[in-house]
Amino acid sequence: MSSFSTGPMPGTAGAARMHEVTEENVHLIDRVIDFSRRRLLASEIPLDKPMSEKELSRLVNEQISEDGMGADRALSVFEHILSPACISTDHPQYLAFIPSAPTKAAQAFDMAVSATALYGGSWMEGSGVVHAENETLRWLAGEFGLPESAGGVFVQGGTTGNLSALVAARDDAKRKRSAAGKSRPEEWIVVCSEEAHSSIASAAAVMDVTVVTVPTGDDGVLHGDHVRPALEEHGDAVFAVVATAGSTNFGLVDDLRSVADLKREYDFWFHVDGAYGLAAILSPLARARFDGVAEADSVIVDPHKWLYTPFDSCALLYRDPETGRRAHTQHAAYLDTLNEAPEWNPSDYAIQLTRRARGLPLWFSLSTYGAGAYRAAISHALTVAHEVADEIRSRPELRLVRDPQLSVVVFERIGWEAADYASWSEKLLDAQTAFVTPSSHHGVTNLRFAVLNPRTTLAQLTVLLDTLR
Ligand SMILES: Cc1ncc(COP(=O)(O)O)c(C=O)c1O
Repeated sequence: MSSFSTGPMPGTAGAARMHEVTEENVHLIDRVIDFSRRRLLASEIPLDKPMSEKELSRLVNEQISEDGMGADRALSVFEHILSPACISTDHPQYLAFIPSAPTKAAQAFDMAVSATALYGGSWMEGSGVVHAENETLRWLAGEFGLPESAGGVFVQGGTTGNLSALVAARDDAKRKRSAAGKSRPEEWIVVCSEEAHSSIASAAAVMDVTVVTVPTGDDGVLHGDHVRPALEEHGDAVFAVVATAGSTNFGLVDDLRSVADLKREYDFWFHVDGAYGLAAILSPLARARFDGVAEADSVIVDPHKWLYTPFDSCALLYRDPETGRRAHTQHAAYLDTLNEAPEWNPSDYAIQLTRRARGLPLWFSLSTYGAGAYRAAISHALTVAHEVADEIRSRPELRLVRDPQLSVVVFERIGWEAADYASWSEKLLDAQTAFVTPSSHHGVTNLRFAVLNPRTTLAQLTVLLDTLR
């Protein structure tokens, strides 16, 4: 006898309506593909801008009903109301935060990843995609100079990548202490610079560990000499030192070599957060800045930033993948069948279990265009950023806050207060010219161009500078 409730039952006659190949589903798939095709192949895309919650609620209300409204109406709401209420992060004049500029191949293939319902968590279920993702990770490891045995996984973003790496670092430190018969320290400490990304503090809060921030030099860069006093003071309570390879606010690369060299004297896990900037190692224009990254115990870089994939994707690499696996493998009766197999299960290397094969768009794009196309696109962004910095230097009403290293250019409009920057930024977005948000340094408001889209040009940026006269 059925143990289900005997109350009124929803009809089950149409149970497979959503899954079968029917006229309705053929039509909706055509419509969605047509919309995606038009957006992917548009030569010009709108910048768009946010709407208020009130406005959106007025325009889009009670979409979800018992019987559904049909794909045509739902898609129309998306195309004409919801999508225009989102800023296009791939617009060439999106220069705020860290932009995104996915390649056509990566965007198109992301649709294929969804269409095939691939599971990327285990070798048993997804050997083909795990193989492709691992080839991509090996290629990245090779560019960074990590040993061939390095490996890891693509996770959701830099925040998850940093957290997963730090969890592995502390697990490694715990094991070493316990093998040496030592108890846990009063507090676990992670050392980083004051320019480190907010996700390090967030990871530390989740892990209940203490962050010791050490000052950078006047150049904004963390050097080994700044880290040494923290290692001396806190000894082996320090389980990790984090260096940033491309800071978010200024695009500065810490002196990775001098931090790595400290490993000869002190025992710590060296994590490199290259979420935004490490991609620039692909360009001969910037490669030398990353000397020392090859010594890292773990590294992250976000393909959804400067490796031109859609959101969301972070490549997390361990020098010794076993450290990641030991820290992160989940154990349960229903997982034994996976854990007892010798093959590579990506889920084992970060905080996650079920996972989208989010490394595939990068694999497809790299396979399609070749690494040379990436080197050219990244070099272009570096060149434009340095050229616009020259332009800023030449204008008396502007002041470059720092010489750029990678592709973030920070500058001030002399005589402006925070309110002037905010209203300039608002006007630009209202006019659909550009998306540039104010930032600040030591409490002084400034402007910041983050350039990585290969369709962003010096001419476009010069026009923006003209509006600051
Ligand atoms: C240096 C750095 N680390 C970490 C992150 C966090 O990455 P995500 O936003 O993908 O979580 C960012 C994001 O901008 C970043 O610039």
